[in-house]
Amino acid sequence: MKALCLLLVLTISSTLCVDKNNFKTCDQSGFCKRLRPFKPEKSQYSLNLDTVIVHGNVLSAEVVTVDIEGEKKNVLWHYALKLTALVDSTFRVELDEADPLYPRYRPELALGEEPTADGLKLVSNSNGKLILVNEQGNKVIITSEPLKIEFLDLNGEKAVILNDNSQLVVEPLRVRREKSGDDDEGDVEEEGTWSENFKSHHDSKPRGNEAISLDIAFPDADHVYGIPEHTDNFHLKTTTSGEPYRLYNLDVFEYDLDSRMAIYGAIPVLYSHGVKRSAGVFWHNSAETWVDVVNYADATVVSSLVNLVTGGHQRRVDARFMSEAGVIDVFVFLGDKPADVFRQYSGLTGAAPLPPRFSLAYHQSRWNYVDEADVRAVDDGFDANDIPADALWLDIEYTDRKKYFTWDMEKFPHPADMVANLTAKGRKLIVIIDPHIKREAGYFVHEDATEQGLYVKDKDGKDYEGWCWPGSSSYLDFFNPEVTKYYAERFQFNNFPGTSKDVHIWNDMNEPSVFNGPEITMPKDCRHYKAPQDGQDGLASFWEHRHVHNENGLRHISGTHQGMLDRSDGQYRPFILTRAVFAGTQRYAAVWTGDNAAEWGFLQASVPMCISLAVSGVSFCGSDVGGFFKYPEAEMMTRWYQAGAYQAFFRAHSHIETKRREPWLYDAATTARLRDAVRRRYALLDFWYTLFYEHSIDGLPVMRPLFQEFPREEETFTIDNTYLLGDKLLVRPVLEEGVTSVKVYLPGKDSHTVWYDVDSYQSYPANGYMNVDVNIAKVPVFQRGGTIVPRKERVRRSSALMAHDPYTLVVALDGQGKAEGSLYIDDGETYEYKSNKFIYAKITYEPSAMKYSFVNEEASYPTRSWVERIVIAGIKNPPKSAKLSQGGKQIPLQMTLHRGNDVLVIRKPTASMASPWEILFTY
Ligand SMILES: *[C@@H]1O[C@H](CO)[C@@H](O)[C@H](O)[C@H]1NC(C)=O
Repeated sequence: MKALCLLLVLTISSTLCVDKNNFKTCDQSGFCKRLRPFKPEKSQYSLNLDTVIVHGNVLSAEVVTVDIEGEKKNVLWHYALKLTALVDSTFRVELDEADPLYPRYRPELALGEEPTADGLKLVSNSNGKLILVNEQGNKVIITSEPLKIEFLDLNGEKAVILNDNSQLVVEPLRVRREKSGDDDEGDVEEEGTWSENFKSHHDSKPRGNEAISLDIAFPDADHVYGIPEHTDNFHLKTTTSGEPYRLYNLDVFEYDLDSRMAIYGAIPVLYSHGVKRSAGVFWHNSAETWVDVVNYADATVVSSLVNLVTGGHQRRVDARFMSEAGVIDVFVFLGDKPADVFRQYSGLTGAAPLPPRFSLAYHQSRWNYVDEADVRAVDDGFDANDIPADALWLDIEYTDRKKYFTWDMEKFPHPADMVANLTAKGRKLIVIIDPHIKREAGYFVHEDATEQGLYVKDKDGKDYEGWCWPGSSSYLDFFNPEVTKYYAERFQFNNFPGTSKDVHIWNDMNEPSVFNGPEITMPKDCRHYKAPQDGQDGLASFWEHRHVHNENGLRHISGTHQGMLDRSDGQYRPFILTRAVFAGTQRYAAVWTGDNAAEWGFLQASVPMCISLAVSGVSFCGSDVGGFFKYPEAEMMTRWYQAGAYQAFFRAHSHIETKRREPWLYDAATTARLRDAVRRRYALLDFWYTLFYEHSIDGLPVMRPLFQEFPREEETFTIDNTYLLGDKLLVRPVLEEGVTSVKVYLPGKDSHTVWYDVDSYQSYPANGYMNVDVNIAKVPVFQRGGTIVPRKERVRRSSALMAHDPYTLVVALDGQGKAEGSLYIDDGETYEYKSNKFIYAKITYEPSAMKYSFVNEEASYPTRSWVERIVIAGIKNPPKSAKLSQGGKQIPLQMTLHRGNDVLVIRKPTASMASPWEILFTY
């Protein structure tokens, strides 16, 4: 939805530009300024070899920092190192103070489950080096002095190196010395250690400096990717001459394009890729984080460094993470293919569960549909214009003056009736619930929260008060399990009258956004709940917001998720949309890219932004179609609908002060094209649903970069305007104004891949770049030869009404005349699929037969769907006859040849999808 105050919207001119002064540069963020220039010749950290213990899958040892004065070594500080071997070529490295003054924060909700252990063996301990090996055969070499950890791939080559540039830092927690007046030696502590200022905001830093940093090298890498959310390219750039990439969930009003500034999301996972291998790291930390990147291929930037470190080898990328607090806790993924590292990460943080099917269809939103009559008119507008839609959305104005869990009873006097009218057409309602709570006497949430102590506290321990949509607001402290429980209960149908299982939830502003806070968010010295432990009082009895900031939104949506499950006794799958993002968000919610604008640059940015989120676990991503701020003219609106139809989350949304823009408010030709784009989506809805089912099993991105499927094809490494849906469709949306042709890269030359234009079935060999003519109706989408894609061609008002419609199967043949695909079918909304009420079918085509068989034979679902058409593209030697074999019956089928006789169409095979079948061909 929106950012900052309306006042700004009115006063800022029509060109979009972020007010950068509201947000810190590295130099304005104390720890970043302090750590970034730190590049010692030699690391102070060394491992004490006498303390090494390997037990089970864990190596533990003491690490010390030493200060060398001549012959004398003074130990400065003691640390505990832990190296853990995990399944799937993953290692975890943790470094904490051996005996910290207070516990240091570790995120609690990012990891899906406790990671599974792998075997770990100490192979040798000599010459100051430890060599270990995991079960799969990945070696780890730990050099003791200075400390360096090298992870080797299965070929014995270095894939990931920690502390190669000696930038490991863990600032120890210290007791604050009282300043005595006559302290002549002066306080040697740097200014800023115990407090910092930014603009008019004062950050009391009661624990003092507690930052951490680590450099991570990726030998042989051409590029690194990940660490969303930024508006930069998908491949990350060398940061030497500018700001580092910043990870800090922020509500940035009119955010910049091509920027490394932090915006709403922060997922600290980073992948490397080169022709040799992929690798990756997950920096498990929820504090403000900055990431520097040095790509050795940018020779002008780093030539001296290149020669120094690599002796002239150009292929290597170094990343360096700096966080304000926490412990070093880094997971290392050894790939070695892109799909492996993406899976290794989603295996740790959890793959998104199967979403309700409607949520993959088209959503219509606006800030705001003003009243019940407006909702009814928009709902009817879709029917009158023959455009399918699955959900209407209500932004903050539906509430009684921004009090969540209430309705504005003047404008929405009959919410239950309104919902029933939508559900009669198979549609849903989605309403917004933000985490800030209006401080108003008599508002039950505020009264409960005040009485029960459910709010985040300020630095002095009083309920924190900030400014947000409702005016004076406080913020529920989702780190407290009592708050989550209380909040979850608010979603009970009797606690939120008018809602039903068909009302789903939008969680916005959960960075959290605080209009009058530093950087439009919560002050870092606010206090969050910490589980009480014996003997921990004072500073040890709470977490500061600085420790947990990036995890805040995740806590919020997990409470919503719990509430939505509980309200239906765990029967129905919730749909939640969130703006703040952290590692693990995908287990609860879909994500949109926040408050974009109707500008071509934002349409272009939506693709790399969503691919970056997809490889970071969040496949369910989309941008506000049409742009949130400003008004999209017909061409941009058309291109945005066409692009949105091929992104996972497909929702049109707009700012309250923009001109209305429901699809039928454009000229008739444009409305027809918007209708066509939405229909394209509905035709492929079961394909999307199948992809998300498969994603829930294998954790692989639904929207994926080309190099995931073609990891040795170097041209693909930097392509981020084109992507694949699963391994089957290649999408190159038109993202540019006024173009009549676009360049499309067709990958797979080495594997003789063939691609088929989905509109014409014309086949093209994978010869790299190709020009494709694009009139205003054209969206370049290609089906990969060797695949089968299910479609539903009958247009209805919503996906629910299409549940039992027949399928068209599009078979795109590879060079051997073969193809395969899959299809998932269930009731679309419950958890019955967990008790085997579903169909997951494999569909194969060979010249002799086409087969539809169940992967899981215990499972079944009573679908009435059948096959009404099979289109086989790329056929070289058409069969003479075909017959269907199902349930012991054989039925002869009719076939016709089309185009240049290379497209065979089987009409009305009438095969039922409820049981396996086979079509036999004779020649
Ligand atoms: C529901 O639909 C009926 C029939 O069109 C209409 O009369 C009624 O006003 C609608 N209710 C709401 C709350 O929109």
